[in-house]
Parts: sequence; C-alpha cells; structure tokens
Amino acid sequence: MSTLEIRDLHVAVEDKEILRGVNLTVRSGETHALMGPNGSGKSTLAYAIAGHPKYTITSGAVTLDGEDVLSLTVDERARAGLFLAMQYPVEVPGVSVSNFLRSAVTAVRGEAPKLRAFTKELKQGMDALSIDASFAQRNLNEGFSGGEKKRHEILQLELLKPKIAILDETDSGLDVDALRVVSEGVNRFGAGGETGVLLITHYTRILRYVKPDFVHVFAGGRVVEEGGPELADKLEAEGYERYTKASA
Ligand SMILES: Nc1ncnc2c1ncn2[C@@H]1O[C@H](COP(=O)(O)OP(=O)(O)O)[C@@H](O)[C@H]1O
Ligand SMILES: [Mg+2]
Repeated sequence: MSTLEIRDLHVAVEDKEILRGVNLTVRSGETHALMGPNGSGKSTLAYAIAGHPKYTITSGAVTLDGEDVLSLTVDERARAGLFLAMQYPVEVPGVSVSNFLRSAVTAVRGEAPKLRAFTKELKQGMDALSIDASFAQRNLNEGFSGGEKKRHEILQLELLKPKIAILDETDSGLDVDALRVVSEGVNRFGAGGETGVLLITHYTRILRYVKPDFVHVFAGGRVVEEGGPELADKLEAEGYERYTKASA
C-alpha cells in the first residue's frame, strides 16, 4: 500500500506563480482523474512532480510513503516508484524501444535484467497489449502514432510496475485508438490494485471508458472541486465554464 501526498504545493514558472496551493492524495489501487480547462496548470503539476528544472517549487510538499519526493533526483523518483508518462517524450534515433525499455527497467530495479528473461517479459507485455513484435525494434518515439505512443506508455507501466503513475493526457494525439489503449491500460491497472493512477486530462470523454474512483476539478492552479465518478458526468454535461469564471 503506497500513498502519494501533495500538500499545499506552489509552483512558479519563470517567476510566475502557476500552482497556488494544490492538495491531492493518491493511494495504490485508486484511480483519480484530474480534469480542468486548458491553461489551468495540470501539466505544470505533472512536470513539477517529475522534477523538470523549469518548474520551481516555491512552497509545499510532495511525499511518497512519507519520503520527500522533491529532494530526489529524477532517477531516484523513478526508483522510488513514481512513473511520469511524459518523462521521456523525445525521439531518439538509434535507440530502439527494446533498448530503451531495458534501460528503464534497469534504472528502476537497480540491476539489469538478464537479456533472455527480459526479452520474454517484453514479449508477454507486448502480447497483452496487442503490440506487433516489430515495435520493439523501432526507434524510440520516431513517427509514433497517437495509439503507438499510448501503447508504449502502458507497456512501460506493465514492465516498471510503479507505485504511482501520473499520466498527463495532453490534448494532442488522443484519437479514438489512443483513448481506447489508455482506458484499457488504466482499467487493468486499477483492477490490479498495486498501482495508484492519476489521470490528467482536459477531455471528459475519456471518462466514458475509464471509471475513476475520484474526480478532481482543477482551475486557476488548484483543486476547486472533488467528487466521485458522478462529477465527471456533470463536467461532461456542463463543461468547465463555471469554474473558470470563479477562478478568474
Ligand atoms: N514551460 C513553461 N514556460 C512558460 N509558461 C509555462 C510553462 N509551462 C506552463 N506555463 C504556463 O502555465 C500555465 C499553465 O499551463 P499548463 O500547466 O500547461 O496547463 P494545462 O496543462 O492545464 O493546460 C499557462 O499559463 C502556461 O502558459
Ligand atoms: Mg496540459
């Protein structure tokens, strides 16, 4: 049982305060949806927890099972059991998906898996996600479709088995195929009970496929309303307008 706790987090980008007191707790086995209008600071929250150097924590705390996440290096955060989906979005010519995943697994587990065992593990993970075997030899992120990016993301979850996964579903590339892949992956992890998922999204439609246990509405750099799955239905029907008015 693991707990990610975000307490009164304030974050600035280039001296501009973006996050203004975020409070959020995610436990393993729970699926949380963080939803809000564009520009409300959702990705800033994800980047700040990931340790992106552009995002300055001005006050507040983030802990994983009581351990101070913010004082850890990016690699240490991964090893502690945090998974940030957009951590490696770059195209890397000459590095295959298979090589990348083996390095990621090595970093998180602290030792390199035997090649044969890893190859088998990778094949099982890919089969479970209906990924073609040739995918493993492709260059990392090069020409990936929206659906392929998402399959790769869920494959990483499968192999790294993080305690807490933060998936920032940016508004690009989420076609129907990608939506389906993310939803199935998240639902499977939720059912597994070992990983806590924080699904960040602008779109309410993903919640037709994913049933979150908790929904948090984000506006103006903080959580402004919380509820269960019924809140997602309300957002889909009414949109974010009344929150953006309130926080402006
Ligand atoms: N790297 C950055 N440089 C400058 N401004 C940024 C950066 N990241 C975020 N911001 C600003 O912070 C605000 C929130 O952005 P973001 O976190 O991307 O919102 P969301 O993900 O909810 O759409 C916006 O006003 C955006 O311009
Ligand atoms: Mg965003």
